Amino acid sequence: MDAVSTQIWSAHDYAANARFVADLAGEAVALLAPRAGERILDLGCGDGALTSELSRSGAFVVGVDAAPELIAAARERGLEVRLQDGAALPFEREFDAVFSNAALHWMKDPAAVIAGVARALVPRGRFVGEFGGHGNVAAIVVALSAVLARRGIDGAALTPWYFPTAAEYRRLLEAGGFAVESIGLHARPTHLPTDMAGWLRTFANPFFAPLDANDRAAALEETLALLRGVLSDDGGRWTADYVRLRFAARLI
Ligand code: BEZ
Repeated sequence: MDAVSTQIWSAHDYAANARFVADLAGEAVALLAPRAGERILDLGCGDGALTSELSRSGAFVVGVDAAPELIAAARERGLEVRLQDGAALPFEREFDAVFSNAALHWMKDPAAVIAGVARALVPRGRFVGEFGGHGNVAAIVVALSAVLARRGIDGAALTPWYFPTAAEYRRLLEAGGFAVESIGLHARPTHLPTDMAGWLRTFANPFFAPLDANDRAAALEETLALLRGVLSDDGGRWTADYVRLRFAARLI
């Protein structure tokens, strides 16, 4: 996750509301195909749940993340992790692969991220990842924007997220020196283990930051009211309208 984001992370909320982030990474991990003995950088490792799974392949995995709370949680798992802004990676030809799951959409300077990844890789190294692509959480973004517009606030100016099209991200990868082996958008509606209030609290707090404490609860209720008919079923079970951008690229 990116240091310049206004998002505030809570390891407790993340564990309660976002365990599925690691659980649903199977296709991205299969695309990475980690091998024993390789050196892999997990970019935006969060609380390390997936980093730990990658390590089981026998690869040497280093995790980086810009959120101190999440890095502390990852360190408690015994992982090798560093607090690091994804747009300023300090590594030089150290990794066979850079992997990233559900993190690149928090990094709003993608060209700087890709340049750092290219520096971190050995020649012909792989960059494999999955993150929110164009249209990701569109209903949620519209509901948040509508609630803020009622208060005269421009929601677009507050968004901490970057959701590119496949064509845009391919262009950036190629400009950064990568050959793109595969890239595409995949709709993946995702059942939430808790509810939309938990998801918004965990992931969308920058939208509520300009509101005073009294108004925050009201704005949250208004957002939930707008979303209920679209993303909640008869039994009150919530789904987030996720769209993943999954890619594999190789340094030329
Ligand atoms: C995502 O994984 O697509 C995502 C998670 C939190 C906020 C926005 C997007």
